Amino acid sequence: MHTYEVFTHYERNHWKLSDVDFSAVRRDLVKPEYVSIAKSAVMGESNVIAAVHGFLNEFVDDYDFSAFAVVWGYQEIQHHYMFKAWLEAVGEHVEDAPVEAMRAPYDPGTSPSATLATNIISELTVNHIYRRVATAVAEPVLKELLLKASLDEAGHAREFIHFCRERLAKRPEETASVLETLYVYTSDKKIKHPVSMFKSNLTELEDHETIDTAFEMFLEQVADADELDELQGKIRRVFGQMVDLDLSTNGRVRRALADVLS
Ligand SMILES: [Fe+2]
Ligand SMILES: [Fe+2]
Repeated sequence: MHTYEVFTHYERNHWKLSDVDFSAVRRDLVKPEYVSIAKSAVMGESNVIAAVHGFLNEFVDDYDFSAFAVVWGYQEIQHHYMFKAWLEAVGEHVEDAPVEAMRAPYDPGTSPSATLATNIISELTVNHIYRRVATAVAEPVLKELLLKASLDEAGHAREFIHFCRERLAKRPEETASVLETLYVYTSDKKIKHPVSMFKSNLTELEDHETIDTAFEMFLEQVADADELDELQGKIRRVFGQMVDLDLSTNGRVRRALADVLS
């Protein structure tokens, strides 16, 4: 099974939170924006529990992917804890209540393939943002953590792509739901992430950082003018290779969707 290979690969490359030297944090270099970004990332990453719950429910017929969900979940909870540890190292407390509010599982996607597609988009997005924010952050420990997490997210994207491709080979009728997902997430000039799409209305999160806080700061303070276009272009390219169609523009995505549905 594929996840056995992924597991051994991850074991070789995996970094440990206990190896990070939080005493090396340069508090003199911390800016308020870094604290906001880290708080936002703590919330985004905390969603892993709901996601694993959803995956195990939605993929009851797929042992291999379910195994991947568990392995993936370990790395994502590590990301949650690493941002929490950094915040504590700079004297910022992370409250439990907003994190606990993230526990409830997602509703299933329109198809299991659409769920995988959603996760491909979120991994590619977070991979890009962590890497780019790392270049803008002067505090060395946060910079290192962002780079480590960014690499992990790239590895996750690769596996979600693998499982989505396999699923579509067996269930080509789910292709439309994958194209719809792509369209929903990349058809306007915004960064959309499933955590914000599904969980931003929780009352526990009012007046609190959410994953959107980091996205907004990224677009305002870090991103180049055409960077969102680049990210969305990359996502469309990945999907195009996965379904073997030209999806390089929104118009083409719409057309491909119409073809698949007709
Ligand atoms: Fe993560
Ligand atoms: Fe990830």
